[in-house]
Amino acid sequence: MKGVVFVGFFELVEKEFGYEMVDKLIDSCNLDSDGIYTSVGTYDHSEMVQLVTKLSEFSGIGVPDLLNTYAKYFGKTHLRKYESFYQEATDTFSFLESIDGHIHVEVKKLYPEAELPKFSTNKLSDNKLELLYSSKRKMGDFAEGLILDTADYYNEKIEIQKKNIEEDGSQVLFTITKI
Ligand code: HEM
Repeated sequence: MKGVVFVGFFELVEKEFGYEMVDKLIDSCNLDSDGIYTSVGTYDHSEMVQLVTKLSEFSGIGVPDLLNTYAKYFGKTHLRKYESFYQEATDTFSFLESIDGHIHVEVKKLYPEAELPKFSTNKLSDNKLELLYSSKRKMGDFAEGLILDTADYYNEKIEIQKKNIEEDGSQVLFTITKI
């Protein structure tokens, strides 16, 4: 997993819980990186799993909520730096439709070691889109937060229905309705 995901995570932990929580997390996890991350570095995905699980334990907030909230922060801060991707799309649906065939393809060119999910889309009508998420990293809750953040960017209101296609969360179907 790219370091930028860890850097953003620690920014938000420090902002919301204070630096002591950052220290506590690093001390209580078994991290090959020793908790030292750079944006362009690449680290084992299991470090993120450990960190989020421990943060859930310490804060009493469930892992899905933490990932969802974190994704919204990550979108507003780190993803907004990729301005042209947002400008090329006209609304939430066209942006989401461009992730798999364009955005993540460009990300992979920049960072060949990036581990990205697969998305397929199915436009049911002008205001309904199905998005199928597939990834062995099982970060559907992170994807949900990024979808909500995308709608924020385009000033659109959406409702998301989520259904696990694979019980372990490696495939999740989102049905997104503009309201
Ligand atoms: C400007 C737009 C975007 C950029 C530049 C971008 C880039 C990235 C990068 C750099 C990673 C980390 C890969 C790694 O750690 O190895 C990532 C992961 C991920 N992205 Fe995107 N992304 C964008 C939009 C989105 C959106 C809108 C969604 C949701 C619909 C999404 C879903 C995900 C998920 C769920 C992951 C975690 C890895 C996984 O589940 O396998 N991305 N993305």
